[in-house]
Amino acid sequence: MSSIDTTLQTLKLVSPEASCNTDLTKGPWLFDTGEAAYGPGSSQEDLAPIDTPRQGELPAVYREASDAELTARILAAKETLGERVVVLGHHYQRDEVVAFADFIGDSFQLANAAQTREQAEYIVFCGVHFMAETADVLSRSDQAVILPNLAAGCSMADMADESSVEECWEQLMDLYADQRTTDGKAAVIPVTYMNCSAALKAFVGKHGGIVCTSSNAATVLEWAFARGQRVLFFPDQHLGRNTAKAMGVPLEAMPMWNPRKALGGNDAQTLLDAQVILWHGFCSVHKRFTVAQIEKARAEHPGVRILAHPECPMPVVDAADEAGSTDYIQKAVAQAPAGSVFGIATEINMVNRLAAQHPEHTIFCLDPVICPCSTMYRIHPGYLAWVLEALVDGVVLNQITVPELVAADAKVALERMLAARP
Ligand code: 13P
Ligand code: SF4
Repeated sequence: MSSIDTTLQTLKLVSPEASCNTDLTKGPWLFDTGEAAYGPGSSQEDLAPIDTPRQGELPAVYREASDAELTARILAAKETLGERVVVLGHHYQRDEVVAFADFIGDSFQLANAAQTREQAEYIVFCGVHFMAETADVLSRSDQAVILPNLAAGCSMADMADESSVEECWEQLMDLYADQRTTDGKAAVIPVTYMNCSAALKAFVGKHGGIVCTSSNAATVLEWAFARGQRVLFFPDQHLGRNTAKAMGVPLEAMPMWNPRKALGGNDAQTLLDAQVILWHGFCSVHKRFTVAQIEKARAEHPGVRILAHPECPMPVVDAADEAGSTDYIQKAVAQAPAGSVFGIATEINMVNRLAAQHPEHTIFCLDPVICPCSTMYRIHPGYLAWVLEALVDGVVLNQITVPELVAADAKVALERMLAARP
């Protein structure tokens, strides 16, 4: 519990120009009642869809409670609920939330955890909306999945909406009408990154496709190429490009699909020659990393090991020493000999926590500006205390429920993903 509030303290101590938004020192509830927006942090400039889920006002008792009071309330509620509740947390959550998680992991591990925590009646998911939806699809129907703040979405996931993907698919089906089963392989297999709505997971499930995470993307692409002549990969262009490039797919065989243009902005021949069609989506957290930051780190720290998340742009991944999921990054640091120096290209909460957990190493974030994932930031101990105390009173707040028909198809794609081990 000693690490509670590290991030907020850090943000309070830095000069305004060293943090991407000084509002980050405030409680996220200040942004809940306004317009649909991602709030302060890395994706604050992205446009949130108007139908983005909103979080109603957090009761004053939780907004006004001190950190110590919230800690006591959360611990007491967890104690009362015992094995009836499990709190799952993603690596990008702030320290003062991670402190209460029963399990911390990357997206793949969290999906697996949701499917295997059979004794829990309630799964409180400290992460973002698509992760909670996935947990609902994979858990038993009598288990309730709870997202403490409904405004914890993901700007990348919002970059691929169902109707744009359907429209893209129809255009591709027309274009590939003559090659539907050449050599026993489908013309195109849809592959979605985990960071998307349950509706899109259902779409790929229905069309012979599969979900991937950053930890098993290569295995998943192999799965897809065994069944199809090419892949439609959404929403993250960077994960798709980095993974396919490492497998030997040439860049010219990876056109980008811009959903606002006919044929995604491509000519027909380019799409006929394509091996991987990349959706025009990205993560605003990982877009912040640059090759110049890596060059600076190498100049200032000879021997530094650069670890990048594969959501980073290709030049950054190419210039890094290694790329991998949050779990990969965490293990690389934990397994390194004492005295190692790491420059890490991923979310600030995770990097700061690794630095605190591993004083035997020198660890720093490649981005000099403190800028967390704006949606992961929406989960705060105030919300956690609120949903847990409601459960003690027998009230389920903020339940994430994927409609049955969507869940059935999404489950097909997610089960395929879970079988494609990292
Ligand atoms: P991981 O699966 O590597 O944890 O990534 C999830 C995510 O959203 C990264 O931005
Ligand atoms: Fe989405 Fe990027 Fe935040 Fe991950 S880090 S949840 S991809 S916005």
